[in-house]
Amino acid sequence: MVGIVVENLVAGYGNVSVLHDVSIDVADKQTVALLGTNGNGKSTLLSCIAGLIKPTEGHIFLVDGEERIDLTSLSPKEIVEAGVSMVPEGRRLFPLLTVEENLVLGAYRLEARAVRNITMDYCFTLFPRLAERRSQQAGSMSGGEQQMLSVARALMGVPKLLLIDEPSVGLAPILVQQMIEKIGELSTSKGLTVLMAEQNFNQAIRIADKGYIIVHGEIAFASKDAVDLRENEMIKSYYLGG
Ligand SMILES: Nc1ncnc2c1ncn2[C@@H]1O[C@H](COP(=O)(O)OP(=O)(O)OP(=O)(O)O)[C@@H](O)[C@H]1O
Ligand SMILES: [Mg+2]
Repeated sequence: MVGIVVENLVAGYGNVSVLHDVSIDVADKQTVALLGTNGNGKSTLLSCIAGLIKPTEGHIFLVDGEERIDLTSLSPKEIVEAGVSMVPEGRRLFPLLTVEENLVLGAYRLEARAVRNITMDYCFTLFPRLAERRSQQAGSMSGGEQQMLSVARALMGVPKLLLIDEPSVGLAPILVQQMIEKIGELSTSKGLTVLMAEQNFNQAIRIADKGYIIVHGEIAFASKDAVDLRENEMIKSYYLGG
């Protein structure tokens, strides 16, 4: 039973305030979409959950079974140890290291190290392309392959909660579709709880169990469920052009 509850979060950068009273919740094994166009605060919110930005107000609770851990009081390293992995914006791979070496580095937390080979096999099954390229330098791979590696590296940490920042960015439409579908499988195949930031509304709503739209750092819409999300007028009119 793993979930995340964000309550009344306020955060920003120095004098620039970005998130205003943001509350969201992600239940166990759900795939939740955080939707918003450029500059509306998606990455800022994910960075707060990962502990990279300290909010000035509010709380972020990782609900893990009976435990309720306030992540705002933990360091980024402690948050990783608690079972939260992030696929960051811009991938942040080690370009001179091979695919396999990048994956090994993703498994640095104690629990992950013990099952490293099993998880790597799973990653290679999920993304067969990575298996073919295991000895290739990460920096010499295509954008799509690098995105697969970035997701796989996060999975190597054997997270309970996976944060994914715009997996579709820079990918050709066919790859976007494939990537989103792979992410959609994680909750069922790995029992993962997933929070995914996206501005490709069209693709994200295909796999999301529910979603939020963030506008100027505020939650402008919170869906009850998948149907409520797909049928939302705001999504239809603003973002699908319908
Ligand atoms: N390091 C920073 N210092 C100051 N302002 C920042 C910093 N990072 C982000 N911002 C500002 O915070 C706001 C929200 O940015 P954020 O990166 O969270 O948006 P986003 O929804 O992830 O956008 P995108 O889809 O372009 O990635 C923007 O106005 C941005 O300029
Ligand atoms: Mg962003």
